[in-house]
Amino acid sequence: MSAIGFGAKAWVASLGTYTAGRPIEEVARELGLGDPESILKLASNENSLGPSPRALEAMAKVAKRMHIYPDGDSFYLRSALAKKLGVTRDEIFLGHGSNEILALLGHVYLEAGTSAVMSAQAFVVYKLVSALYQAEAIEVPARAFGHDLDAMRAAIRPDTRLVFLANPNNPTGTVVSSTALYQFLDDLPEHVVAVIDEAYVELLPPRMQPDTLGYVREGKNVFVLRTFSKAHGLAGLRIGYAVAPPEGIALLNRVRQPFNVNAMAQAAALAALEDDAHIAKTRELVEEGLDQLSQGLAELGVDYVPSSANFLLVRVGRGQEYFQALLRERIIVRPVDNYGLSDYIRVTVGTREENQRFLDALSVVLGKGNS
Ligand SMILES: Cc1ncc(COP(=O)(O)O)c(C=O)c1O
Repeated sequence: MSAIGFGAKAWVASLGTYTAGRPIEEVARELGLGDPESILKLASNENSLGPSPRALEAMAKVAKRMHIYPDGDSFYLRSALAKKLGVTRDEIFLGHGSNEILALLGHVYLEAGTSAVMSAQAFVVYKLVSALYQAEAIEVPARAFGHDLDAMRAAIRPDTRLVFLANPNNPTGTVVSSTALYQFLDDLPEHVVAVIDEAYVELLPPRMQPDTLGYVREGKNVFVLRTFSKAHGLAGLRIGYAVAPPEGIALLNRVRQPFNVNAMAQAAALAALEDDAHIAKTRELVEEGLDQLSQGLAELGVDYVPSSANFLLVRVGRGQEYFQALLRERIIVRPVDNYGLSDYIRVTVGTREENQRFLDALSVVLGKGNS
């Protein structure tokens, strides 16, 4: 056995790791399923329409310049985002996915002796980031699968530095109303910074999207996080952004690596940002897909949590078993027992054909259909 871990910090060795949706190639290899093309992945809330066509074009154009380092300040993309969002360029920070920004926020705000508040059934990375910086994760039980904002407010302590809120939430698909969110933000004590993770917000009808950027413009203690991974269909490129008052952005810039956002991602995001048609098409696909899945599940007598995002929490009972059984049907979904939801699986909304394939496979593994 190697002694390489001898001098490692004990708390690092005890950290948990993020379990991602199973990659298609890995599942094909492990289960001997042959052609990876025949496997359907509905496990990571990706966009079933694929990348914005404009982004694909932009990527092809910049491909031959990949020997050159990227613009470390992402000037053009920050400018375009600022214009689109009605904020200033110095209120925008770009990251290697919003995941990187979550970790950098931990770097800036969390350490031993501090704490972060989050819902027990919110995106698991909040808990992992807290542990990474040796801060205590205060997990507040969810109410009806959503954030219990009153309980989260009550859980804030003098040593609390960050409050994480995913809206819509992953893995439950719930949203908090704009009124409740504004009330929560207005009531936050001065020593706490709110991280509002809006990874799925573009999928909401515009009238339901809360004006969290208004809080940024007013200089409040708020970081709004968004990503190009979901509605824009660019998960593979790893690019997300934070919008916050300039002082907050300046702090993030102190802890990031020089070229944390690659050139291909910058070019693709810039093009995707102008592709409103792709977002509208995606929103439509998700809306129709949620209807199709809800109806199909109801016909199968299977319960689910109504969702406002591109995934659905489905109550199969014994989620791990169903996850495995669906793998054998060449469909990858996500078990969610790590959120205390062992009766559920989470399934991403696909195209009409993909959703039907999932429903048919579920029917088979439930013993109600033919393989
Ligand atoms: C709520 C939430 N926040 C952040 C992320 C991370 O997204 P990104 O691909 O931008 O790192 C995800 C990804 O699934 C998510 O569900």
